[in-house]
Amino acid sequence: PTLTQFVDKLPIPYQIPVNTTEISIGAWKIKQKLHRDLPPTTLYAYGESQETARFPGPTFEATLDVKARIHWENHIPDNKHFLPVDTSINWAHPKHGGVPTVVHLHGAETESIYDGHPDAWWTPKGEHGYTYVTQHYSYPNSQRPALLWYHDHVVGITRLNVLAGLAGLYFVRSPKDKLTKLFPYGEYEIPFVLRDLQFWANGSINFPNIGDNATIHPTWCPEYFGDTILVNGKAWPYLEVYPRVYRLRLLNAANARFFNLSLSEPSLRFHKIGTDGGYLETKPQILKSLLVAPAERLDLLIDFSKLKPGDVVYVNNSAPAPFPDGTDSFSPPQTRSVLKFQVTAWPNSRQARGRPSNSDLRNALQYVESARTVQKIKYTNALHRYLRLQEFDDANGNPIVSLIENRTWRDPVVDFPREGAVEVWEWINTTPDAHPIHVHLIQFKVLNLQPFDENGYLNGSCNIEVGFSKPGTCFTGPPLPPKIYHTGFKDTAIVWPNFVTRYGIRFQTSDGRRFPFDPTLGPGYVFHCHILDHEDNDMMRPYKLIH
Ligand code: C2O
Ligand code: CU
Repeated sequence: PTLTQFVDKLPIPYQIPVNTTEISIGAWKIKQKLHRDLPPTTLYAYGESQETARFPGPTFEATLDVKARIHWENHIPDNKHFLPVDTSINWAHPKHGGVPTVVHLHGAETESIYDGHPDAWWTPKGEHGYTYVTQHYSYPNSQRPALLWYHDHVVGITRLNVLAGLAGLYFVRSPKDKLTKLFPYGEYEIPFVLRDLQFWANGSINFPNIGDNATIHPTWCPEYFGDTILVNGKAWPYLEVYPRVYRLRLLNAANARFFNLSLSEPSLRFHKIGTDGGYLETKPQILKSLLVAPAERLDLLIDFSKLKPGDVVYVNNSAPAPFPDGTDSFSPPQTRSVLKFQVTAWPNSRQARGRPSNSDLRNALQYVESARTVQKIKYTNALHRYLRLQEFDDANGNPIVSLIENRTWRDPVVDFPREGAVEVWEWINTTPDAHPIHVHLIQFKVLNLQPFDENGYLNGSCNIEVGFSKPGTCFTGPPLPPKIYHTGFKDTAIVWPNFVTRYGIRFQTSDGRRFPFDPTLGPGYVFHCHILDHEDNDMMRPYKLIH
Protein backbone atom coordinates (compact mmCIF):
# COMPACT_ATOMS: atom_id res chain seq x y z
CA PRO A 1 0.00 0.00 0.00
CA THR A 2 1.07 3.61 -0.63
CA LEU A 3 0.86 5.50 2.63
CA THR A 4 0.69 9.30 2.94
CA GLN A 5 3.67 10.56 4.90
CA PHE A 6 3.55 12.75 8.01
CA VAL A 7 -0.16 12.36 8.84
CA ASP A 8 0.26 10.64 12.24
CA LYS A 9 1.58 12.23 15.39
CA LEU A 10 4.74 10.66 16.84
CA PRO A 11 3.62 8.39 19.72
CA ILE A 12 5.63 8.40 22.94
CA PRO A 13 5.81 5.01 24.72
CA TYR A 14 4.55 5.19 28.31
CA GLN A 15 7.07 5.07 31.15
CA ILE A 16 7.26 2.61 34.04
CA PRO A 17 9.70 3.14 36.93
CA VAL A 18 11.53 -0.08 37.83
CA ASN A 19 13.13 -0.89 41.18
CA THR A 20 13.29 -3.59 43.85
CA THR A 21 9.50 -4.04 43.80
CA GLU A 22 8.96 -6.67 41.14
CA ILE A 23 6.62 -5.88 38.28
CA SER A 24 5.23 -8.32 35.71
CA ILE A 25 5.56 -7.61 32.01
CA GLY A 26 4.09 -9.91 29.43
CA ALA A 27 4.61 -10.62 25.76
CA TRP A 28 1.16 -10.47 24.12
CA LYS A 29 -0.42 -10.85 20.73
CA ILE A 30 -2.04 -7.53 19.81
CA LYS A 31 -3.35 -5.40 16.97
CA GLN A 32 -1.89 -1.92 16.56
CA LYS A 33 -2.54 0.97 14.17
CA LEU A 34 0.79 1.77 12.53
CA HIS A 35 -0.57 4.39 10.13
CA ARG A 36 -3.83 6.36 9.68
CA ASP A 37 -4.70 4.54 6.44
CA LEU A 38 -3.49 1.07 7.37
CA PRO A 39 -5.81 -1.46 9.04
CA PRO A 40 -4.51 -2.60 12.47
CA THR A 41 -1.43 -4.82 12.27
CA THR A 42 -0.98 -8.07 14.21
CA LEU A 43 2.06 -7.77 16.47
CA TYR A 44 3.67 -9.45 19.46
CA ALA A 45 4.41 -6.73 22.00
CA TYR A 46 5.35 -6.10 25.64
CA GLY A 47 3.07 -4.62 28.26
CA GLU A 48 1.57 -5.00 31.70
CA SER A 49 -1.63 -6.31 30.07
CA GLN A 50 -2.87 -7.13 26.61
CA GLU A 51 -4.72 -3.79 26.54
CA THR A 52 -1.59 -1.72 27.28
CA ALA A 53 0.87 -3.82 25.27
CA ARG A 54 2.27 -2.14 22.18
CA PHE A 55 5.36 -1.57 20.10
CA PRO A 56 7.65 -0.08 21.33
CA GLY A 57 6.98 -1.59 24.76
CA PRO A 58 6.88 0.52 27.90
CA THR A 59 9.98 2.65 28.57
CA PHE A 60 11.55 1.46 31.83
CA GLU A 61 13.10 4.10 34.06
CA ALA A 62 15.79 2.55 36.29
CA THR A 63 18.02 4.26 38.87
CA LEU A 64 21.78 3.83 39.11
CA ASP A 65 22.73 1.08 41.61
CA VAL A 66 19.08 0.33 42.41
CA LYS A 67 18.16 -3.22 41.38
CA ALA A 68 15.25 -3.54 39.01
CA ARG A 69 13.12 -6.68 39.24
CA ILE A 70 10.96 -7.70 36.33
CA HIS A 71 8.96 -10.90 35.99
CA TRP A 72 8.84 -11.61 32.26
CA GLU A 73 5.70 -13.48 31.23
CA ASN A 74 4.73 -15.11 27.96
CA HIS A 75 1.09 -14.86 26.85
CA ILE A 76 1.51 -15.95 23.23
CA PRO A 77 -0.16 -19.36 22.97
CA ASP A 78 -0.11 -19.40 19.13
CA ASN A 79 0.95 -22.77 17.83
CA LYS A 80 2.14 -21.10 14.68
CA HIS A 81 4.19 -17.88 14.65
CA PHE A 82 2.53 -15.29 12.42
CA LEU A 83 5.89 -14.87 10.69
CA PRO A 84 7.54 -17.78 8.83
CA VAL A 85 9.84 -19.84 11.07
CA ASP A 86 12.69 -21.56 9.23
CA THR A 87 13.09 -24.93 10.93
CA SER A 88 16.26 -25.71 8.99
CA ILE A 89 18.37 -23.36 11.14
CA ASN A 90 19.23 -23.76 14.84
CA TRP A 91 16.07 -22.77 16.62
CA ALA A 92 14.12 -23.30 19.81
CA HIS A 93 11.73 -26.13 18.74
CA PRO A 94 9.16 -26.17 21.55
CA LYS A 95 7.32 -29.51 21.48
CA HIS A 96 4.00 -28.41 22.92
CA GLY A 97 3.32 -25.24 20.98
CA GLY A 98 3.29 -21.60 21.97
CA VAL A 99 5.74 -19.02 20.68
CA PRO A 100 8.97 -19.17 22.73
CA THR A 101 10.29 -15.87 24.16
CA VAL A 102 13.27 -14.74 26.23
CA VAL A 103 14.29 -11.17 27.04
CA HIS A 104 17.72 -9.60 26.67
CA LEU A 105 18.44 -6.17 28.11
CA HIS A 106 20.82 -4.91 25.45
CA GLY A 107 23.79 -2.99 26.87
CA ALA A 108 23.12 -4.10 30.44
CA GLU A 109 25.92 -5.33 32.66
CA THR A 110 24.05 -8.17 34.26
CA GLU A 111 24.25 -11.75 35.56
CA SER A 112 24.07 -14.31 32.78
CA ILE A 113 20.98 -16.05 34.20
CA TYR A 114 19.17 -12.71 33.64
CA ASP A 115 20.84 -11.92 30.34
CA GLY A 116 18.31 -13.56 28.04
CA HIS A 117 20.61 -16.35 26.85
CA PRO A 118 19.25 -17.58 23.46
CA ASP A 119 18.66 -21.12 24.81
CA ALA A 120 17.00 -19.85 28.02
CA TRP A 121 13.58 -19.36 26.38
CA TRP A 122 10.20 -20.20 27.82
CA THR A 123 6.71 -20.77 26.44
CA PRO A 124 3.28 -19.98 27.94
CA LYS A 125 2.89 -23.71 28.61
CA GLY A 126 5.93 -23.85 30.90
CA GLU A 127 8.27 -25.53 28.43
CA HIS A 128 11.76 -24.07 28.24
CA GLY A 129 15.17 -24.16 26.63
CA TYR A 130 18.10 -25.96 28.27
CA THR A 131 19.85 -22.92 29.78
CA TYR A 132 16.62 -21.61 31.37
CA VAL A 133 16.87 -20.80 35.08
CA THR A 134 14.14 -18.26 35.83
CA GLN A 135 11.77 -15.65 34.44
CA HIS A 136 12.17 -13.46 37.54
CA TYR A 137 14.94 -11.22 36.25
CA SER A 138 16.97 -8.74 38.29
CA TYR A 139 19.12 -5.99 36.78
CA PRO A 140 21.80 -4.30 38.94
CA ASN A 141 21.91 -0.99 36.96
CA SER A 142 25.51 -0.58 38.14
CA GLN A 143 27.05 0.93 35.04
CA ARG A 144 27.46 4.28 33.32
CA PRO A 145 23.95 5.77 33.00
CA ALA A 146 22.73 5.18 29.46
CA LEU A 147 19.84 4.34 27.19
CA LEU A 148 19.58 0.55 26.90
CA TRP A 149 16.88 -1.43 25.14
CA TYR A 150 15.22 -4.75 25.75
CA HIS A 151 14.23 -7.21 23.07
CA ASP A 152 13.56 -10.86 22.44
CA HIS A 153 16.57 -13.17 21.95
CA VAL A 154 15.26 -16.71 21.25
CA VAL A 155 17.71 -18.84 19.30
CA GLY A 156 16.80 -18.99 15.59
CA ILE A 157 13.74 -16.69 15.75
CA THR A 158 15.11 -13.47 17.23
CA ARG A 159 14.64 -11.80 13.85
CA LEU A 160 10.95 -12.80 13.83
CA ASN A 161 10.12 -11.99 17.46
CA VAL A 162 11.80 -8.57 17.34
CA LEU A 163 10.28 -7.77 13.96
CA ALA A 164 6.90 -8.81 15.41
CA GLY A 165 7.31 -6.00 17.99
CA LEU A 166 9.07 -7.45 21.05
CA ALA A 167 11.32 -4.48 21.85
CA GLY A 168 11.36 -1.37 24.04
CA LEU A 169 13.56 1.22 25.74
CA TYR A 170 15.22 1.13 29.17
CA PHE A 171 16.94 4.11 30.80
CA VAL A 172 19.53 3.82 33.56
CA ARG A 173 19.57 7.27 35.16
CA SER A 174 21.70 8.66 37.94
CA PRO A 175 20.03 11.03 40.42
CA LYS A 176 23.46 12.67 40.72
CA ASP A 177 23.70 13.39 37.00
CA LYS A 178 23.67 17.20 36.89
CA LEU A 179 23.27 17.13 33.14
CA THR A 180 19.83 15.54 33.26
CA LYS A 181 18.21 18.81 34.27
CA LEU A 182 20.60 21.05 32.34
CA PHE A 183 19.56 19.30 29.17
CA PRO A 184 15.98 19.21 27.93
CA TYR A 185 13.94 16.64 29.85
CA GLY A 186 10.36 15.54 30.35
CA GLU A 187 8.31 16.37 27.27
CA TYR A 188 11.43 17.82 25.60
CA GLU A 189 13.36 14.54 25.75
CA ILE A 190 12.02 12.47 22.87
CA PRO A 191 12.53 8.71 22.43
CA PHE A 192 13.10 7.90 18.76
CA VAL A 193 12.86 4.20 17.88
CA LEU A 194 13.57 3.66 14.19
CA ARG A 195 12.76 0.65 12.08
CA ASP A 196 11.49 -0.45 8.68
CA LEU A 197 8.61 -2.78 7.83
CA GLN A 198 6.62 -3.81 4.78
CA PHE A 199 2.86 -4.35 4.75
CA TRP A 200 0.08 -6.06 2.87
CA ALA A 201 -3.03 -4.01 2.08
CA ASN A 202 -4.88 -5.67 4.99
CA GLY A 203 -2.30 -4.23 7.40
CA SER A 204 -0.41 -7.45 8.12
CA ILE A 205 3.38 -7.53 7.92
CA ASN A 206 4.78 -8.65 4.59
CA PHE A 207 7.71 -10.92 5.42
CA PRO A 208 9.10 -13.16 2.66
CA ASN A 209 8.04 -16.77 3.18
CA ILE A 210 10.45 -18.12 0.59
CA GLY A 211 14.14 -17.88 1.35
CA ASP A 212 16.96 -17.12 -1.05
CA ASN A 213 17.82 -20.78 -1.11
CA ALA A 214 14.72 -22.96 -1.16
CA THR A 215 16.48 -26.27 -0.56
CA ILE A 216 18.96 -25.39 2.21
CA HIS A 217 16.97 -22.72 4.08
CA PRO A 218 13.38 -22.66 2.78
CA THR A 219 12.36 -19.38 4.47
CA TRP A 220 15.47 -17.69 5.90
CA CYS A 221 16.15 -14.43 4.07
CA PRO A 222 19.66 -13.04 4.52
CA GLU A 223 18.49 -9.50 5.42
CA TYR A 224 14.96 -8.20 5.94
CA PHE A 225 14.30 -4.76 4.45
CA GLY A 226 10.90 -3.04 4.49
CA ASP A 227 9.75 -0.14 2.31
CA THR A 228 8.07 1.77 5.17
CA ILE A 229 9.98 3.71 7.82
CA LEU A 230 8.49 3.84 11.32
CA VAL A 231 9.37 5.91 14.37
CA ASN A 232 7.97 4.75 17.73
CA GLY A 233 5.60 2.44 15.89
CA LYS A 234 4.09 4.93 13.39
CA ALA A 235 4.90 5.11 9.71
CA TRP A 236 6.50 8.49 8.83
CA PRO A 237 5.08 10.45 11.78
CA TYR A 238 5.36 14.16 12.50
CA LEU A 239 6.32 15.85 15.75
CA GLU A 240 5.32 19.37 16.80
CA VAL A 241 8.21 21.20 18.44
CA TYR A 242 8.50 24.60 20.08
CA PRO A 243 11.37 26.87 19.04
CA ARG A 244 13.81 25.55 21.66
CA VAL A 245 16.35 22.79 22.22
CA TYR A 246 15.18 19.17 22.23
CA ARG A 247 16.97 16.04 23.33
CA LEU A 248 16.50 12.96 21.14
CA ARG A 249 17.21 9.45 22.42
CA LEU A 250 17.56 7.45 19.25
CA LEU A 251 17.64 3.67 18.73
CA ASN A 252 17.91 1.81 15.45
CA ALA A 253 15.62 -1.18 16.11
CA ALA A 254 15.58 -2.44 12.52
CA ASN A 255 16.49 -6.02 11.62
CA ALA A 256 19.05 -5.08 9.01
CA ARG A 257 18.64 -1.49 7.81
CA PHE A 258 21.34 1.09 8.53
CA PHE A 259 20.25 4.74 8.59
CA ASN A 260 22.29 7.75 7.56
CA LEU A 261 20.20 10.60 8.95
CA SER A 262 20.28 14.27 8.01
CA LEU A 263 18.09 17.35 8.54
CA SER A 264 16.50 19.26 5.66
CA GLU A 265 17.13 22.65 7.32
CA PRO A 266 20.72 23.56 6.42
CA SER A 267 21.30 25.72 9.51
CA LEU A 268 20.55 22.86 11.93
CA ARG A 269 23.05 20.35 13.30
CA PHE A 270 22.88 17.23 15.41
CA HIS A 271 24.79 17.72 18.66
CA LYS A 272 25.82 14.22 19.60
CA ILE A 273 26.45 13.98 23.35
CA GLY A 274 26.25 10.26 23.97
CA THR A 275 26.07 6.80 22.54
CA ASP A 276 25.38 3.17 23.56
CA GLY A 277 27.28 3.32 26.86
CA GLY A 278 26.29 6.85 27.96
CA TYR A 279 27.78 10.33 27.58
CA LEU A 280 30.77 10.89 25.35
CA GLU A 281 33.88 11.50 27.42
CA THR A 282 35.12 14.09 24.99
CA LYS A 283 33.39 17.16 23.66
CA PRO A 284 30.06 16.86 21.83
CA GLN A 285 30.22 16.15 18.12
CA ILE A 286 28.44 18.66 15.90
CA LEU A 287 27.27 16.74 12.86
CA LYS A 288 25.32 17.15 9.64
CA SER A 289 24.67 13.43 9.29
CA LEU A 290 24.51 10.41 11.54
CA LEU A 291 25.23 6.85 10.52
CA VAL A 292 23.44 4.42 12.84
CA ALA A 293 23.43 0.63 12.50
CA PRO A 294 20.92 -1.80 14.02
CA ALA A 295 21.02 -1.76 17.87
CA GLU A 296 23.15 1.40 18.14
CA ARG A 297 21.86 4.33 20.23
CA LEU A 298 22.50 8.05 19.93
CA ASP A 299 21.96 10.80 22.48
CA LEU A 300 21.34 14.01 20.53
CA LEU A 301 20.43 17.65 20.98
CA ILE A 302 18.76 19.68 18.24
CA ASP A 303 18.31 23.42 18.63
CA PHE A 304 15.12 24.68 16.95
CA SER A 305 15.23 28.04 18.73
CA LYS A 306 16.17 30.02 15.60
CA LEU A 307 13.20 28.66 13.65
CA LYS A 308 9.78 30.26 13.35
CA PRO A 309 6.34 28.79 13.91
CA GLY A 310 5.23 27.16 10.66
CA ASP A 311 8.73 26.05 9.69
CA VAL A 312 9.15 22.38 8.92
CA VAL A 313 12.28 20.26 9.15
CA TYR A 314 12.48 16.79 7.63
CA VAL A 315 14.64 13.97 8.95
CA ASN A 316 15.97 12.18 5.87
CA ASN A 317 17.88 8.95 5.32
CA SER A 318 20.49 8.19 2.68
CA ALA A 319 21.95 4.82 3.69
CA PRO A 320 21.96 2.10 1.04
CA ALA A 321 20.56 -1.35 1.88
CA PRO A 322 22.34 -3.70 2.34
CA PHE A 323 25.02 -1.40 3.75
CA PRO A 324 27.40 -0.12 2.40
CA ASP A 325 27.03 -1.15 -1.24
CA GLY A 326 23.37 -2.07 -1.72
CA THR A 327 21.42 -1.06 -4.80
CA ASP A 328 18.18 0.92 -4.90
CA SER A 329 15.91 -2.14 -4.86
CA PHE A 330 15.84 -2.26 -1.04
CA SER A 331 15.81 1.51 -0.58
CA PRO A 332 12.95 2.88 -2.72
CA PRO A 333 12.45 6.69 -2.59
CA GLN A 334 10.05 6.64 0.36
CA THR A 335 12.74 5.05 2.58
CA ARG A 336 14.66 8.33 2.20
CA SER A 337 12.12 10.03 4.50
CA VAL A 338 11.82 9.40 8.22
CA LEU A 339 9.93 12.12 10.12
CA LYS A 340 8.75 15.73 9.94
CA PHE A 341 9.37 18.28 12.69
CA GLN A 342 6.68 20.94 12.66
CA VAL A 343 7.69 24.10 14.53
CA THR A 344 4.75 25.62 16.43
CA ALA A 345 4.31 28.76 18.50
CA TRP A 346 4.59 28.63 22.28
CA PRO A 347 1.18 28.45 23.94
CA ASN A 348 0.45 31.87 25.44
CA SER A 349 0.58 30.68 29.02
CA ARG A 350 4.13 29.51 28.66
CA GLN A 351 5.37 32.43 26.65
CA ALA A 352 4.09 34.67 29.39
CA ARG A 353 6.26 32.85 31.87
CA GLY A 354 9.25 33.51 29.61
CA ARG A 355 10.21 29.89 29.17
CA PRO A 356 13.84 29.81 28.02
CA SER A 357 14.06 28.92 24.38
CA ASN A 358 17.65 27.80 24.41
CA SER A 359 17.85 25.85 27.67
CA ASP A 360 21.43 26.95 28.36
CA LEU A 361 22.63 24.65 25.64
CA ARG A 362 26.06 26.16 25.44
CA ASN A 363 26.70 25.96 29.18
CA ALA A 364 25.41 22.44 29.30
CA LEU A 365 27.68 21.33 26.51
CA GLN A 366 30.69 22.95 28.14
CA TYR A 367 29.75 21.13 31.30
CA VAL A 368 29.93 17.80 29.48
CA GLU A 369 33.41 18.62 28.30
CA SER A 370 34.78 19.64 31.65
CA ALA A 371 32.99 17.10 33.81
CA ARG A 372 34.08 13.97 32.01
CA THR A 373 37.50 12.50 32.50
CA VAL A 374 38.74 10.21 29.81
CA GLN A 375 39.63 6.84 31.29
CA LYS A 376 42.90 5.64 29.87
CA ILE A 377 43.06 1.88 29.52
CA LYS A 378 46.36 0.17 28.68
CA TYR A 379 46.32 -2.38 25.92
CA THR A 380 50.02 -3.27 25.86
CA ASN A 381 49.69 -6.64 27.59
CA ALA A 382 46.22 -7.35 26.32
CA LEU A 383 45.25 -10.75 24.97
CA HIS A 384 44.17 -10.52 21.32
CA ARG A 385 41.29 -12.58 19.97
CA TYR A 386 40.93 -12.87 16.20
CA LEU A 387 37.36 -13.24 14.98
CA ARG A 388 36.89 -13.75 11.27
CA LEU A 389 33.51 -12.85 9.75
CA GLN A 390 32.48 -14.93 6.75
CA GLU A 391 29.46 -15.36 4.51
CA PHE A 392 28.92 -18.48 2.45
CA ASP A 393 26.83 -18.69 -0.73
CA ASP A 394 25.33 -21.65 -2.56
CA ALA A 395 26.23 -22.53 -6.16
CA ASN A 396 23.82 -19.83 -7.41
CA GLY A 397 25.41 -17.15 -5.28
CA ASN A 398 22.58 -17.06 -2.72
CA PRO A 399 23.71 -16.59 0.89
CA ILE A 400 23.17 -19.69 3.02
CA VAL A 401 24.97 -18.82 6.25
CA SER A 402 27.08 -16.13 8.00
CA LEU A 403 29.65 -17.34 10.51
CA ILE A 404 32.22 -16.13 13.02
CA GLU A 405 35.46 -18.16 12.93
CA ASN A 406 33.73 -20.80 10.83
CA ARG A 407 31.80 -21.97 13.89
CA THR A 408 28.07 -22.19 14.47
CA TRP A 409 26.08 -21.29 17.57
CA ARG A 410 26.09 -24.98 18.59
CA ASP A 411 29.87 -25.41 18.51
CA PRO A 412 31.55 -25.49 21.94
CA VAL A 413 32.61 -22.32 23.76
CA VAL A 414 36.22 -21.41 22.94
CA ASP A 415 36.42 -17.85 24.29
CA PHE A 416 37.00 -17.56 28.04
CA PRO A 417 38.06 -14.02 29.01
CA ARG A 418 39.17 -13.46 32.60
CA GLU A 419 37.12 -11.17 34.81
CA GLY A 420 38.92 -7.83 35.09
CA ALA A 421 41.20 -8.52 32.11
CA VAL A 422 41.82 -6.13 29.22
CA GLU A 423 41.57 -7.73 25.78
CA VAL A 424 41.61 -6.67 22.13
CA TRP A 425 39.02 -8.32 19.89
CA GLU A 426 39.98 -8.06 16.23
CA TRP A 427 37.05 -8.46 13.84
CA ILE A 428 38.39 -9.57 10.46
CA ASN A 429 35.60 -8.80 8.00
CA THR A 430 36.03 -10.87 4.83
CA THR A 431 32.44 -10.21 3.64
CA PRO A 432 31.09 -7.42 1.40
CA ASP A 433 28.73 -6.20 4.17
CA ALA A 434 29.25 -4.00 7.19
CA HIS A 435 28.20 -5.90 10.34
CA PRO A 436 27.13 -4.22 13.60
CA ILE A 437 28.91 -6.54 16.04
CA HIS A 438 27.54 -6.63 19.58
CA VAL A 439 29.18 -8.07 22.71
CA HIS A 440 26.99 -8.80 25.74
CA LEU A 441 27.85 -7.79 29.33
CA ILE A 442 30.41 -5.06 28.63
CA GLN A 443 30.86 -1.69 26.98
CA PHE A 444 33.97 -1.48 24.81
CA LYS A 445 35.97 1.14 22.90
CA VAL A 446 36.79 0.93 19.22
CA LEU A 447 40.59 1.31 19.14
CA ASN A 448 41.25 1.49 15.41
CA LEU A 449 40.57 -0.14 12.06
CA GLN A 450 43.03 -1.32 9.44
CA PRO A 451 42.58 -2.28 5.77
CA PHE A 452 43.77 -5.70 4.64
CA ASP A 453 44.09 -7.83 1.52
CA GLU A 454 41.10 -10.12 1.74
CA ASN A 455 42.12 -12.55 -1.00
CA GLY A 456 45.62 -12.99 0.37
CA TYR A 457 44.20 -13.53 3.82
CA LEU A 458 41.63 -16.10 2.70
CA ASN A 459 44.11 -18.10 0.61
CA GLY A 460 46.69 -18.04 3.40
CA SER A 461 49.44 -16.22 1.54
CA CYS A 462 49.70 -13.57 4.27
CA ASN A 463 48.73 -13.20 7.93
CA ILE A 464 46.86 -10.97 10.39
CA GLU A 465 46.96 -12.83 13.70
CA VAL A 466 50.08 -11.26 15.15
CA GLY A 467 48.85 -8.75 17.76
CA PHE A 468 50.22 -5.22 18.02
CA SER A 469 53.87 -6.21 18.40
CA LYS A 470 54.67 -6.84 14.74
CA PRO A 471 52.55 -5.93 11.75
CA GLY A 472 50.71 -8.71 9.90
CA THR A 473 51.63 -9.10 6.25
CA CYS A 474 48.04 -8.84 4.92
CA PHE A 475 47.62 -5.18 5.85
CA THR A 476 47.49 -2.72 3.00
CA GLY A 477 47.77 0.39 5.16
CA PRO A 478 48.34 1.63 8.70
CA PRO A 479 45.66 1.47 11.45
CA LEU A 480 43.17 4.31 11.10
CA PRO A 481 41.57 6.13 14.03
CA PRO A 482 37.99 5.14 14.88
CA LYS A 483 35.29 6.79 12.77
CA ILE A 484 32.98 9.43 14.22
CA TYR A 485 30.27 6.76 14.74
CA HIS A 486 32.72 4.59 16.70
CA THR A 487 33.45 7.08 19.49
CA GLY A 488 32.47 6.65 23.11
CA PHE A 489 31.50 3.56 25.04
CA LYS A 490 29.88 1.10 22.66
CA ASP A 491 28.18 -2.27 22.95
CA THR A 492 27.57 -2.52 19.20
CA ALA A 493 29.82 -1.06 16.50
CA ILE A 494 30.09 -1.03 12.74
CA VAL A 495 32.69 -3.48 11.42
CA TRP A 496 33.56 -2.48 7.85
CA PRO A 497 34.21 -4.88 4.97
CA ASN A 498 37.89 -5.41 4.13
CA PHE A 499 39.01 -3.92 7.43
CA VAL A 500 40.10 -5.35 10.73
CA THR A 501 38.18 -3.44 13.42
CA ARG A 502 39.70 -3.64 16.91
CA TYR A 503 37.58 -3.48 20.07
CA GLY A 504 39.32 -2.68 23.36
CA ILE A 505 37.43 -4.52 26.09
CA ARG A 506 37.89 -4.41 29.85
CA PHE A 507 35.87 -7.08 31.62
CA GLN A 508 34.60 -4.76 34.34
CA THR A 509 31.64 -2.44 34.62
CA SER A 510 31.75 0.49 32.21
CA ASP A 511 32.36 2.85 35.13
CA GLY A 512 35.47 0.86 36.08
CA ARG A 513 34.19 -1.17 39.04
CA ARG A 514 34.10 -4.91 39.68
CA PHE A 515 30.83 -6.46 38.61
CA PRO A 516 28.42 -6.46 41.57
CA PHE A 517 27.81 -10.19 40.91
CA ASP A 518 29.86 -13.20 39.87
CA PRO A 519 29.95 -13.04 36.05
CA THR A 520 31.45 -16.55 35.77
CA LEU A 521 28.21 -18.25 36.87
CA GLY A 522 25.28 -19.33 34.72
CA PRO A 523 25.06 -20.12 31.01
CA GLY A 524 27.46 -17.33 30.02
CA TYR A 525 27.22 -14.58 27.45
CA VAL A 526 27.14 -14.16 23.69
CA PHE A 527 28.49 -11.96 20.92
CA HIS A 528 26.92 -11.64 17.51
CA CYS A 529 26.08 -9.58 14.48
CA HIS A 530 23.04 -7.39 15.19
CA ILE A 531 21.67 -7.79 11.69
CA LEU A 532 19.10 -10.11 13.21
CA ASP A 533 18.84 -12.27 10.10
CA HIS A 534 22.61 -12.92 10.36
CA GLU A 535 22.43 -13.53 14.10
CA ASP A 536 19.81 -16.25 13.60
CA ASN A 537 21.92 -18.09 11.00
CA ASP A 538 24.61 -18.37 12.59
CA MET A 539 26.62 -15.21 13.18
CA MET A 540 26.46 -15.62 16.95
CA ARG A 541 28.81 -17.33 19.38
CA PRO A 542 28.79 -18.01 23.13
CA TYR A 543 31.54 -16.87 25.52
CA LYS A 544 32.15 -17.40 29.22
CA LEU A 545 34.03 -15.45 31.85
CA ILE A 546 36.49 -17.16 34.22
CA HIS A 547 38.16 -16.00 37.43
CU1 C2O B 1 20.54 -6.56 21.14
CU2 C2O B 1 22.41 -10.07 21.78
O1 C2O B 1 21.41 -8.37 21.45
CU1 CU C 1 26.05 -9.39 9.94
